[in-house]
Amino acid sequence: MHLLITNIHQLLNVREQCSLLRGKAMAELPMIQNAFLVVHKGRIAAYGCMDDLPEKVYDAVYDAAGATVLPTWCDSHTHLVFAKSREQEFVDKLHGLSYADIAARGGGILHSAAALQATSEDVLFESTLKRLQELMLLGTGAIEIKSGYGLTVADELKMLRVIRRLKEVAPIPVKGTFLGAHAVPHTYRDNKQGYIKLIIEEMLPKIVQETLADYVDVFCEQNFFCVSDTEKILEAADKYGLPAKLHANQLSVSGGVEVGVKYKAVSVDHLEAMNEKSIHALGASNTIATVLPTAAFFLRMQYAPVRKMLQENCALALASDYNPGSSPSGNMNFVVSLACIQNEFLPEEAINAATLNGAYAMGVEKEVGSITIGKKANLIFTKPIPSVAYLPYHFGTPVVDKVMIEGKWV
Ligand code: NIG
Ligand code: FE
Repeated sequence: MHLLITNIHQLLNVREQCSLLRGKAMAELPMIQNAFLVVHKGRIAAYGCMDDLPEKVYDAVYDAAGATVLPTWCDSHTHLVFAKSREQEFVDKLHGLSYADIAARGGGILHSAAALQATSEDVLFESTLKRLQELMLLGTGAIEIKSGYGLTVADELKMLRVIRRLKEVAPIPVKGTFLGAHAVPHTYRDNKQGYIKLIIEEMLPKIVQETLADYVDVFCEQNFFCVSDTEKILEAADKYGLPAKLHANQLSVSGGVEVGVKYKAVSVDHLEAMNEKSIHALGASNTIATVLPTAAFFLRMQYAPVRKMLQENCALALASDYNPGSSPSGNMNFVVSLACIQNEFLPEEAINAATLNGAYAMGVEKEVGSITIGKKANLIFTKPIPSVAYLPYHFGTPVVDKVMIEGKWV
């Protein structure tokens, strides 16, 4: 079936060939004004300017009536599988406690772990699928999901099996990341090394055997896992060929960036607390710098130094970090707005970071992330908007009108 889409006001992120965008190149967002696009078998089959529309018979025609069309968001960092919201901690924060205070008294990640351990795989699957469907309506067309609220062998496997089931049923690409090293569970409170041993000797082999994860992650942070803990886990994962995506430099200059670069991590994520050395290391590497502005916003923390990272030629991605503690929203439209408002991304840079570079940050760049022939027709149709800048500018009000996944309306 050939579907012709006509009268697209602006077709954004049109690329004949793709490569990871870094530094200055991030500000270039190639587009076609007054465009058409052809979808065949769920993939992008042709595009061009309306004036050059070939005279051909199509099976169906959809008049976009002045919508702007762009590739769906590629959200490369989420904790979408969770059992319970944590609004009480939100109120505690309003009363003055910090994220670190809440974690230190057993709240935070450990609170989510207790709830998840008490919830069955089926219930988790149903609630996560519902969340995923809501995100698709907001324009998310590929997603990475982490474990890390299990913290026992059985519960980490349970989370990863939920993610695997999502991969099977979701119409969008889903990637799974093993984050056993998210926090030290109560049972290992005085024996962190024992927990790391459990991760390396019991969790990892089982996960690899069942091919439950595409990546490994560690929360490399003061009072969580230090650089040498992180190295042990990455070393072990490396033996199985499991690439890393790290939580690095969120609350402090943790050394997470350098260890990520050393182990050729696909991405290091957060980066609120950076110094010259870590920025330079990142700019000189192939590791993607994934910025999570809604986490900084929700925790009222400093924002990642995006302009400095771009000056040092970093490749930046944007993701939602959707989780019940530090970013209880997976709305990538708001991520893109906030990235411009607070991280000082330019609109074009933010859109590239949330589409093509996000795709690279989870290894789905051949399938999604740009308007390229052969890629999936995963597309956002906006309400009529005057320009690209209007998209982040008009924050908090939906600009997404319709979403298409593999040529079908969500
Ligand atoms: O990316 N910082 C570590 N992990 C999450 C938060 C998890 C939680 O608070 O439940 C994050 O911000
Ligand atoms: Fe996270």
